[in-house]
Amino acid sequence: MGKKLELTVNARKVLEKRYLKKDEKGNPIEQPEDMLKRVAKTIASAEGLYGNEDQVSEVEKKFYDIMANLEFLPNSPTLMNAGRDLGQLSACFVLPVEDSMEGIFDAIKHAALIHKSGGGTGMSFSRLRPRGATVRSTGGVASGPVSFMKVFNAATEAVKQGGTRRGANMGILRVDHPDILQFIQCKRDNKDITNFNISVGITEEFMKALYEGRVYNLVDPHTNKVAGTLEAQKVFDLIVEMAWNNGEPGIIFLDKINESNPTPHIGVIESTNPCGEQPLLPYESCNLGSINLLKMVKKSGKRWEIDWNKLKDTVYWAVRFLDNVIDINKYPLPEIEEKTKANRKIGLGVMGFADMLIRLGIPYNSQKGVDTAEELMRFIQDESKKASAKLAETRGVFPNFKGSIYDRPGAPRVRNATTTTIAPTGTISIIGGTSSGIEPLFAVCFVRNVLDNDKLVEVHPLFEEIAKEKGFFSRDLMEQIAQKGSLEGIYDIPEDVKRIFVTAHDVSPEWHIKMQAAFQKYTDNAVSKTVNFPNSATKEDVRKVYLMAYEMGCKGVTIYRDGSREEQVLNKGLNL
Ligand code: CDP
Repeated sequence: MGKKLELTVNARKVLEKRYLKKDEKGNPIEQPEDMLKRVAKTIASAEGLYGNEDQVSEVEKKFYDIMANLEFLPNSPTLMNAGRDLGQLSACFVLPVEDSMEGIFDAIKHAALIHKSGGGTGMSFSRLRPRGATVRSTGGVASGPVSFMKVFNAATEAVKQGGTRRGANMGILRVDHPDILQFIQCKRDNKDITNFNISVGITEEFMKALYEGRVYNLVDPHTNKVAGTLEAQKVFDLIVEMAWNNGEPGIIFLDKINESNPTPHIGVIESTNPCGEQPLLPYESCNLGSINLLKMVKKSGKRWEIDWNKLKDTVYWAVRFLDNVIDINKYPLPEIEEKTKANRKIGLGVMGFADMLIRLGIPYNSQKGVDTAEELMRFIQDESKKASAKLAETRGVFPNFKGSIYDRPGAPRVRNATTTTIAPTGTISIIGGTSSGIEPLFAVCFVRNVLDNDKLVEVHPLFEEIAKEKGFFSRDLMEQIAQKGSLEGIYDIPEDVKRIFVTAHDVSPEWHIKMQAAFQKYTDNAVSKTVNFPNSATKEDVRKVYLMAYEMGCKGVTIYRDGSREEQVLNKGLNL
């Protein structure tokens, strides 16, 4: 063991800043290789629980190798905390918010504990009685979900995640909650509730009313009685207007999510984690990990192709790794430990999809790109199920298996209630030196401001390689592309190269959704994806895409219209 890591300058920076162990003065006392050894050793030690003591060192070596080769990386909390006092390894949590003072403030406390340990929390506020409802014990009136979200927000502001990053929350409100209009507009001015992403929980009933052009019922969750009606069209228009305005709220399709709830006998899913890719039951947590697809291609003659054998092997070890994490994890609350260990959900996904397509010479925004996504994710889904079933042979199926969707003839006997999730990979893709999640490239060349107002032109490594190969590389040209932000209208670049180096802004919203839907088809949990719109997009454009996402079977949608927020995050990961 001891393979040296080949890291980019940015990857080293991120690791030094946030991941490596430090002394009291803040100087790193481990190298990136030491970090991976710490992680591999800790996660492999779970093998001992299953009588595999003789395999521990072999498994440890394998875990180290797939991480050191940057073929697979677990979510940030695992890298930061494995083998250290904190020991909290999951990125995703969902907490219940009950309709009582005790319930609300318990949830605030629990969220703070989770943020402190490096995790993000999702919460549905749908159970809270509406603003103005009576409070029996005091005879006063209730403040309603949006007021309480502000309290959660203030608490989050004060607690930094894992001592390094601010806490992240998802706030959900069902579309039939009486306070829905207030909720939809609660982030209108970008000033309040800044530590939350918000999404409206859309129901099938609402979508029916929308398509039929009629009203739908609002229900008071406290009394369970109809508390009025709203025109579906008007509510939908308001959601679209706000999203067009600044990207929020997003929407999630609650009934669609619950259709694929693997354990309906245990409970109903009300919320996702902060970035939307992981629906969970109240008190459930999930650890994620992603395969770097740029490392899953090989050259055959002059062409590149997917290395299916390597991918299969990596999926197997990644599933074993993530299943081990569940046993080694130090949980922030006993309820979370109990729920998580009963379903044993894991979320294996991918990063570097756009880079892989470039290698394969396939444009992201093309039918071939979408077909490749389906073929790839179907394979990962199938292999992850096989890997989970293999683990179940010796470790047993997940404890809630009986009554789950897998408890029927012909279904695999799996160790994990879910195996796949497409995470944003905001930071781990920087460590992996690849494009994030399944997103298209952000830029081919861009200008990075460095110290003393110096400007540095960064060129995408594959673009540099191909430009040199084809003989059109020059610093001047790279600078010109960086200034322009796209290859469109630059004459010195061959058309076939232009066609494969498409950036998020070159991809139309429809192709973004088609790609999201292709991955969703073979993903147990959900898919993190931002649908980019040009600044000139209209509300009608946004509306169409929301409906398209629903019709194509997505579990939710998040959009961003260029320039619609003052602060445009160039690189999510570096700004965490
Ligand atoms: O790349 P990394 O492992 O850091 O995380 P990601 O894939 O960008 O995000 C995965 C999940 O981590 C998010 O959906 C959140 O649940 C959580 N997260 C968080 O809590 N706080 C952040 N600042 C970033 C991510």
